[in-house]
Amino acid sequence: MSKGLVIAIDGSAGSGKSTSAKLIAKKLGYVYIDTGAMYRAITYLALENEAINDESRIIELARKCKIDLDYKDGEVIVLLNDKNVSKEIRLAEVNSHVSDVSKISEVRKVLVEKQREMGAKGNGVVMEGRDIGTVVFPNADVKIFLTASLDIRANRRTKEYIQNGSKVLVDDIKSNLSNRDKIDSNRNDSPLTKASDAVEVDTTNVTINEQVNLILEEVKKIAVKKNIQLEIKN
Ligand code: DC
Repeated sequence: MSKGLVIAIDGSAGSGKSTSAKLIAKKLGYVYIDTGAMYRAITYLALENEAINDESRIIELARKCKIDLDYKDGEVIVLLNDKNVSKEIRLAEVNSHVSDVSKISEVRKVLVEKQREMGAKGNGVVMEGRDIGTVVFPNADVKIFLTASLDIRANRRTKEYIQNGSKVLVDDIKSNLSNRDKIDSNRNDSPLTKASDAVEVDTTNVTINEQVNLILEEVKKIAVKKNIQLEIKN
């Protein structure tokens, strides 16, 4: 098992998970794992294989595929059966179907197992998703649950898409986020929910720096308690 801390960051889309998780992993020299990218990769694979409405084929595809995550120059690189699909997994069509694919228990089982293996490899890990503190690593050292208003989350996502050269409408993004929130929070298996021992951080009115610092304060407290040395880079 890793010698550093296991840090779980959960929350809805646009709550600031990826931004904070990436920066914290960088500051601590820890491995960063974006589990949403893995659910997106399976969704993309199902779309590519025209299997999006066929649950048993999706399960078969999930069981047989190879997913590798890497992280370079601030970007998550997703290799699906050795093909780089990092851009494709962010397409609107994937956004529309990913929450339904994520409801399938067998798909979750396959991915949770991979996530646990990935988390155990690093010398400290920051893993972000919806069920990291509740299901993937219920014994995580640090559990953070991020929230933010729907409006601010939709504005953040819209800005990201526009910066990447995509034309999107804030109202479309807002309705996709709200729809995904509903499905992710109400599904039977591992719904998006705050672990009872997670620290909740509302990012609606805070800057990225402030949000990273709030999380780092929690991390430092736990590191002292557990006698784990942290090397925090600027
Ligand atoms: O974080 P994201 O928006 O890229 O995640 C895409 C979808 O994947 C999200 O709407 C629900 C699902 N997901 C999940 O069910 N469990 C996780 N640990 C991470 C993501």
